[in-house]
Amino acid sequence: METTPLLKPYKMGNYQLSHRVVLAPLTRSRSYGNVPQPHAALYYSQRTTNGGLLITEATGVSETAQGYPETPGIWTKEHVEAWKPIVQAVHDKGGIFFCQIWHVGRVSTYDYQPNGKAPISCTDKGCTPGLYGVDWPAPHRLSIDEIPQVINDFKVAARYAIEAGFDGVEVHGANGYLLDQFIKDTVNDRTDGYGGTLEKRCRFPLEVVKAVIEEIGADKVGIRLSPFADYMETGDSNPDALGLFMAEALNKLGILYLHVIEPRMVTLAEAQETPHSSLRMRKAFKGSFISAGGYKKDDGNKVVEEDHADLIAYGRLFLANPDLPKRFAIDAPLNKYNRDTFYIPDPVVGYTDYPFLDQAN
Ligand SMILES: Cc1cc2nc3c(=O)[nH]c(=O)nc-3n(C[C@H](O)[C@H](O)[C@H](O)COP(=O)(O)O)c2cc1C
Repeated sequence: METTPLLKPYKMGNYQLSHRVVLAPLTRSRSYGNVPQPHAALYYSQRTTNGGLLITEATGVSETAQGYPETPGIWTKEHVEAWKPIVQAVHDKGGIFFCQIWHVGRVSTYDYQPNGKAPISCTDKGCTPGLYGVDWPAPHRLSIDEIPQVINDFKVAARYAIEAGFDGVEVHGANGYLLDQFIKDTVNDRTDGYGGTLEKRCRFPLEVVKAVIEEIGADKVGIRLSPFADYMETGDSNPDALGLFMAEALNKLGILYLHVIEPRMVTLAEAQETPHSSLRMRKAFKGSFISAGGYKKDDGNKVVEEDHADLIAYGRLFLANPDLPKRFAIDAPLNKYNRDTFYIPDPVVGYTDYPFLDQAN
C-alpha cells in the first residue's frame, strides 16, 4: 500500500484522484490574441497523470478581464473551440481538468482594454504608478448597476468552460485581481452595498460563486483565495477574520473545493514565515481543501499527513518538472525552473522543453 501521503488516492467530490499533487494555475502568456494555442495541448498533457488534477492558467471571462500579454480567454465560441483539443489531450491521459476563470480588475492598462477605456474595479484608486514599472491608470469604479454584467460574464465563462469539456472551474479570487479587490479593505473603499463591512466586501465574490453554481452546479466549482497576501497592493487589515468568513460562507454554498495560497507566500516570489495560518479555514470548510505556495515534497507530505490539506498545488516545481508526481514517487532530483522563460511567447522554450526523467541525461 502507498505510504507517501502525497501519493495516496483521494476522492474529491465525484472525482477519484490517484494522488494529491495538483498542477497550480500558471499564466504562461502563450495564447496569442487571447486564443489558446495547440502547443498548450502538449504542455498540459505532459503534466497529466491518470487521476491527477490540473488547473489551467488564469483565463479571462470578458474583453475587460485582461491585463497581461497573450493570456487565454473563455468568452467567445472561438475560445471554446480552441480549448477543446487541449482539454481532450488531458482527458486522453485520464487527467481531471479545471479552468481558472479570471478578471484582473484594476491590474490592467488602457492598452489591454476595449476601445482604450479605463480598467474596471470596485474603486477608482489605481495601483501606485510605477509599481512593477507600469504606469497604472485610475480604474473606472463599477456602479451598482454595472456589477450584474460582470457577474454574468463569470457565469457565461463557466458555461463555456463546461462546453469546452472542462470538468469544472476555479473562480480566481486571489492575488489582487478583481474579486480580491472587492474583498480586501486596503482597496475596497465603497460605501454602498458592496463595501464597508466584511460581509459587504465579500458580497461580490460570493455572488459570482452563486451565479457560477447556478450555471454548472456546486459539484464543479472551486475557488482560489489569498486572504493573507497583499499582492498588487491588495491587502487586508484582518486576514484571519476574512479567511474564516469566506470559508464559512463558501461552505454554505457547498462548492467542491477551496484553494488557499498559504500565508507564508506573502509575496508571490519567495516563501516567508508569518504568524497567520490557513488552518482555521481548513477546519471551517467541509469540502476539499487545496493548499499552495512554496511547497517542496517534504512539507507537502507533512501537511497532507497532518490533515491540514487534502491536496497540494505545485506551481514552479510542476512548471519545470512535467513528471513531478513520478519524481516525488521515486525521490528523483528535480529540474530547476528558469524564471526568464515563465512569460515569454515562445511555444516551446521554457514551456514544453523541460526534460522528463527518462530524457534527463
Ligand atoms: C509563472 C507563474 C504564473 C502564475 N500564474 C498564476 C495564475 O494564472 N493564477 C493564479 O492563481 N496563480 C498564478 N501563479 C501563482 C501560482 O499558482 C502559485 O500560487 C505560486 O507560484 C506559489 O506556488 P509555488 O511555490 O509552488 O510556485 C503563478 C505563478 C508563477 C510562478
